[in-house]
Amino acid sequence: MSFDFDQPVDRAGTHALKYDLRAQKFGRADVAPLWIADMDFAAPECVTQALIPRAQHPIYGYTTWPAGMLDALVGWCARRHHWQVETDWLLPANGVLAALSAALQACTQAGDGVIVQPPVYGGFVEAALACRRQPVDNQLHEEAGHYTMDFAQLEQCARAGARTLMLCNPHNPVGRAWSRDELTELLRIARQYGITVISDEVHGDLALPGHVHQPLAALATAQDRVITLLSPSKTFNLQGLGLAVLATANPELRAAVAHQLEALHLVGANPFAVAAAEAAWRGGDAWVDALQTYLGATRDLLIARLPASNAIHAVPPQASYLAWLDCRALRKTDAELRDFFITHCGLGLNPGADYGQGGSGFMRFNFGAPRKMVETALDRIAAALKSA
Ligand SMILES: Cc1ncc(COP(=O)(O)O)c(C=O)c1O
Repeated sequence: MSFDFDQPVDRAGTHALKYDLRAQKFGRADVAPLWIADMDFAAPECVTQALIPRAQHPIYGYTTWPAGMLDALVGWCARRHHWQVETDWLLPANGVLAALSAALQACTQAGDGVIVQPPVYGGFVEAALACRRQPVDNQLHEEAGHYTMDFAQLEQCARAGARTLMLCNPHNPVGRAWSRDELTELLRIARQYGITVISDEVHGDLALPGHVHQPLAALATAQDRVITLLSPSKTFNLQGLGLAVLATANPELRAAVAHQLEALHLVGANPFAVAAAEAAWRGGDAWVDALQTYLGATRDLLIARLPASNAIHAVPPQASYLAWLDCRALRKTDAELRDFFITHCGLGLNPGADYGQGGSGFMRFNFGAPRKMVETALDRIAAALKSA
């Protein structure tokens, strides 16, 4: 089976946020959109083929979560990640960030500390603040472009009273697919201090060649306080369908999360989302295999064109389609850096400073697009650096 990821897809008229919010976000509507974590690839055929008949049935009323969709996810986790999930651990919800907030509210009280590991996906801190929780930084350690967790400082956060950690596994934006050893140590600390770990694994299906995704929960027992956030949204680019599944083997946590999902009315299924998710988890393997290979080759291109010796260089991503560009050698302020990419390169990237401590001097580059688009962006960066 072959898939054509090189084929550009015109998204005009689809209200694509990545395109339509450019003027608002960058002050110019003509920048190449390499920002928000949304890929410019057509969804797999199996997804479209499931959506068409559902759309053709003209009643879109209240919908249940089909057992078949949850079974499909159980099969997916076993095949793709060697993680044996039980169907009754799964709590579906209509929204990834909504599910994250529900999990947070289920295991913390207003005012509680919530540990985050910056530079990290901004939705974590936003969710914590919106829920009136207190983000507590456990900044990642960076050395020569390699990021690791600071376990000693994590223990200090726990000793100071924080009892919940939002883990990004794999990590957006630094691209780490955390290793079994790292996650084992994290789990040891979580057990010692009674920390609940909310492990956001929405990028977990997209480990790049040479790397594997290790689900945290596959190392845990039902006594551990681990909640995993799963979704087809990043893997198959179905963000607009807003479907997430929370998984926990811990019955007490499961009851608390289920209660929050009910309280927030997040349990109504969207008929399109369930059709798409079941089809993707049943039939999307070959497409994801091909996508991983394609993204791996684009990653190699990025590293070759932006090597460590370059004034702008890419931290090699181990998973997903987000490259973390180290621009510190340019010695620009964050405002100047943003302006350099918008004005001199004509590119819309996410500023690293938006990811919290350790993000200053970096930019996040979304390479989930036909390779020609990525090559054009790299050409523009090279030309702008020459004339800078
Ligand atoms: C780690 C992580 N979690 C959650 C989300 C939100 O996912 P969605 O946009 O599918 O709601 C994102 C989106 O970028 C993300 O990177």
